[in-house]
Amino acid sequence: MPQRDTIQHLISLQDLDDATLSSILELSMDLKRVSVAPGLAGKSAGLLFFRRSLRTRTSFEAAVHQLGGHSINLNASSDFWELEAHEGAIMDGRAPEHIKDAAAVLSRYLDVLAIRPALEGRSWEADRKDEGILAWAANADVPVINMESALWHPLQALADLMTLREALGDLRERRLAITWTNSPTYASPAVVHSLVLAALRQGMHVRVAHPDGYELDDRVMASARALATERGAELEVTGDRNAAVDGAHVVYARSWQSLADYGNPTLAASHRARTKDWRVDEALLARGADARLMHAMPVRRNVEVSDEVLDGPRSLIYDQAENRLHSQKALLLKLLSR
Ligand code: CP
Repeated sequence: MPQRDTIQHLISLQDLDDATLSSILELSMDLKRVSVAPGLAGKSAGLLFFRRSLRTRTSFEAAVHQLGGHSINLNASSDFWELEAHEGAIMDGRAPEHIKDAAAVLSRYLDVLAIRPALEGRSWEADRKDEGILAWAANADVPVINMESALWHPLQALADLMTLREALGDLRERRLAITWTNSPTYASPAVVHSLVLAALRQGMHVRVAHPDGYELDDRVMASARALATERGAELEVTGDRNAAVDGAHVVYARSWQSLADYGNPTLAASHRARTKDWRVDEALLARGADARLMHAMPVRRNVEVSDEVLDGPRSLIYDQAENRLHSQKALLLKLLSR
């Protein structure tokens, strides 16, 4: 059994060095063109969902199957019970089992664990610690893959980078506009946190547009500013989505919940009611430089993005969703061949 501190986990994309990230992206492109030998033959992946998913669950299971492996899917709502994340907890509450025990036991059966952890949804300061996914990584003897925590969605960022490369080729100095969109559904900023860092790392110029009160996590953005300086990239945050999209090569639409209103749905609903015009339509997209449209999905049609844009020739949303499959296959092959 490998030493725990030598196991390569994927909690955020920053866990992969530049060379590994590049080779995964190249392999992803290859796997989209040609099928490969079943590199996961005889291996088993455990997928644990504490929140619902359509794309992540399906693409991950399909990826394991197409590589000759077997996946076991467990939903927290129906297949097992609450798990305690805190080290040293006196477990007289609702959770009958600790993550450290579950992680150690599942590591005896499985070759990789992929987890979409629960969010408490009461305090951003608490949820941003990502204690659940970190507890799995600290206590597993196999690689742990984050399938979207409060802070990060590395699998989405991998597919996003692959899609950006397919659409634009070399990403250095290409312009990405990320615009907040109105939605009645709460989503974490994990997709955008991961995307901002991933794009800057490739040398892209990134503009983020959002209404007042929808600022991204301050510590993630501090890292993003440092990364932009290191990579010679530009990072701008603005309340003017028209200015953000001007000259952009890709417009990425995404709704995320206000971290200022986190845990206060009444206040959040009242703020959101004032931002209904934050949607992507043809007029906005036309401000870009022949801009393509990306969205991680699920997308609320004609609330976040108009039908015309989603169904139009510049929409990349289905390629982007498809690329989840190829990039996860590449990731699995890399992580499990170490
Ligand atoms: N983009 C994404 O992660 O989709 P699901 O929530 O459906 O998995």
